[in-house]
Amino acid sequence: MTVVEGDITRLTVDAIVNAANGSLLGGGGVDGAIHRAAGPELLAECRALGGCPTGEARLTRGHKLAAKWVIHTVGPVWRDGRAGEAEALESCYRRSLALAREAGARSVAFPAISTGIYGYPLEPATQIAVATVKADLEVHAQPERVVFVAFDRRTATVYRQALAALDRDPAKT
Ligand code: APR
Repeated sequence: MTVVEGDITRLTVDAIVNAANGSLLGGGGVDGAIHRAAGPELLAECRALGGCPTGEARLTRGHKLAAKWVIHTVGPVWRDGRAGEAEALESCYRRSLALAREAGARSVAFPAISTGIYGYPLEPATQIAVATVKADLEVHAQPERVVFVAFDRRTATVYRQALAALDRDPAKT
């Protein structure tokens, strides 16, 4: 697991994960960036999928992106922390990794799901991201490489601190 600061659409990995909404018909944030970079065929492919529930994920091709696949997952909208947000966010990471494995993706890049427009507080969301991915990678050989892509310095710092904490105290998940 590594952290990079940058634009997920520029990464050369087998699969990039999109923080989508339930319609899968595009939006702002990373969703908008991915659709812009992938081109209109991505939207056409997404239309045929008929949406995606929160916590679930759907696979499409990457079209004009360097990545072969895009895994669209729908994160929870943050309400008060008592509406099942943590479980839904964990499910996004687990389901995305499962789809990546099924597709044979060896490298996967995640954005900071739900921490933008959906308002999930960054620190708890990051804890869920790194702990869930770590647990999955401990029991599966694939994907070999997971990259957390931070779009800003603050997010990168929080991810790096979370990964460092995992290394210091591996029992802590
Ligand atoms: N590359 C990597 N990360 C990005 C990029 C990019 N090009 N653009 C934005 N991000 C980051 C944001 O800075 C944030 O840290 O992705 C993280 C997730 O933020 P959002 O994209 O707002 O996603 P989310 O909070 O899950 O909200 C999803 O926003 O775009 C709409 O259609 C989407 O309705 C859905 C909602």
